[in-house]
This record gives sequence, C-alpha cells and structure tokens, in this order.
Amino acid sequence: MKLTESQLADYDRDGYIVLPSLLSDDEVKKMKDELRRIQKIDTDHLVREKNGGVAKTIYKVHEKASPTASDVFHAAIRSPRLLEPAKQLLNDLELYVYHTKCNLKTAIDGSVWQWHQDFGTWHLDGVKNPDMTTALILLDEPTEMGGCLYFIPGSHKLGSLDPEFDETTGYRFYVVPKPTMLEILSTHPKAIPIIGKPGTVVFFDANIVHASGHNLSGEDRWQAYVVYNQVKNKPQQVQNPRADYVRSTNYIPLETTTDEILS
Ligand code: SIN
Ligand code: MN
Repeated sequence: MKLTESQLADYDRDGYIVLPSLLSDDEVKKMKDELRRIQKIDTDHLVREKNGGVAKTIYKVHEKASPTASDVFHAAIRSPRLLEPAKQLLNDLELYVYHTKCNLKTAIDGSVWQWHQDFGTWHLDGVKNPDMTTALILLDEPTEMGGCLYFIPGSHKLGSLDPEFDETTGYRFYVVPKPTMLEILSTHPKAIPIIGKPGTVVFFDANIVHASGHNLSGEDRWQAYVVYNQVKNKPQQVQNPRADYVRSTNYIPLETTTDEILS
C-alpha cells in the first residue's frame, strides 16, 4: 500500500495521518483474541493494573523470540499495509521495530497519560534522530469519554523539548513540563481527539505532543502501537539501557511480506 503525495504532505504538516479501515474486522478480532490470550501469561513483558490486576500494557508482540509473541502481530508489522507507508514516511527502506506496545485501557480503571513526546524517552534511550514513526492500530472505537488519544497538530515542528520525569500518575515517564505545555496549548490549534472505527491505523511523528485521559466509560479502549525506526538510527550506547522489549536490539531490516495477516 502506498501513501499519496497529499497524505505525505498532511503528515508533514500535522505530524499524523489517519487511515480508516486499513485492517478488517476479522483481523482486529484476531488481534484482540491474541491479546486476551497473552494477558494471562506471567512475564515481565506486560504491566498489570495495581495489585496484580488485569494486564494493561503488553510489549513485544511482534517478535518470534518473546514470551508475548503473536503470529498475527508478527505478520501485521511486516505487511505492505503497515511497512510500506512507514518506509515512505521515513524515506528509508531499511527499518526495524523499536518496540510494539499494546495499551489495554480498561473501562473505568484505565488512566491518564500526561502530555509528552515519545522521542523525549527514546532520545534518552540513545536515539539521535527523531525520524521514527508509529503506527497506532485502533482495536476498539475510542471515544473522548473513554480516554482516547489527543494530538496537537503541528507540534512535531517544535522539535525535541526537554522532558521531565513525572511520577504523579499511574504511568511514570518523561513528559513535557507544565509551563512549556501551557505555552504550547495557547499557541497551537486545538488538540484533536483520535477517534475512529476499529481497524483504523494512525501514523504519527515521534515528536508530536500527545496525551490521553482517564477511561470514564463502560467500554475498554484497546490500541496497539508499532514503532518503526531506521536501522541507521539505532540507539547509541547508554548506561543502564532499558530492557529489550522497550528498546529493541534486533536491528535486522524488516522484509515486507504478504498482506496475509491471518494464516
Ligand atoms: C502513549 O502515548 O504512549 C500511550 C497513550 C495511550 O495509549 O493512551
Ligand atoms: Mn506516547
């Protein structure tokens, strides 16, 4: 699958593009079945809600050598539907997957992710260049009440902002500091809710400023993230690197396979 010139221009201007119906209902169902199976596995590749509750984040579903391996995700991330647009957006044929992350934001419990740029963390992982793109796969139909993601259009053009470590929410990670964030919110277009039917895929830039709220609704909000990086942009050595399931060390260039995601 190839993106058009106008889609490439939209991505460059806004920092993201939305591709409705990229995956079929059957493919989405199979992915959710896989995640339900993996949720039960006892491994450090998934993060549970407090007190050993349900798994809310699952990593590394795309590699064969992983306790959380899934054939369906393995095929999807190499399929022309995902890999070809990623190659176009990064203008590079040699890509690998930096990580896959499935965020299963459960009804009522699923909580807030503060405003951040993903590259804030990845830069500290030793990655030099923000030329990375993420394919977000909507597995449910996210809503504003249900804790959908929000993007600030054009905010990727700000480049990398100095992040600060935030421990105030259920997710402890690097966020955009509050004074910078207030300035961004007052000078940029309104944040856009990322809502759409299951099977929609959204590609977004590593520097786009984004966040999501608490899931106040009665519906789960499951979505998967596939982060593509250029092989030539693999991270440099850092002290105490994060685990392989968030900072992959498999730099073998991905081969595009068939569009057959279900075997
Ligand atoms: C993220 O931005 O990394 C995750 C946010 C979400 O899934 O709501
Ligand atoms: Mn993020």
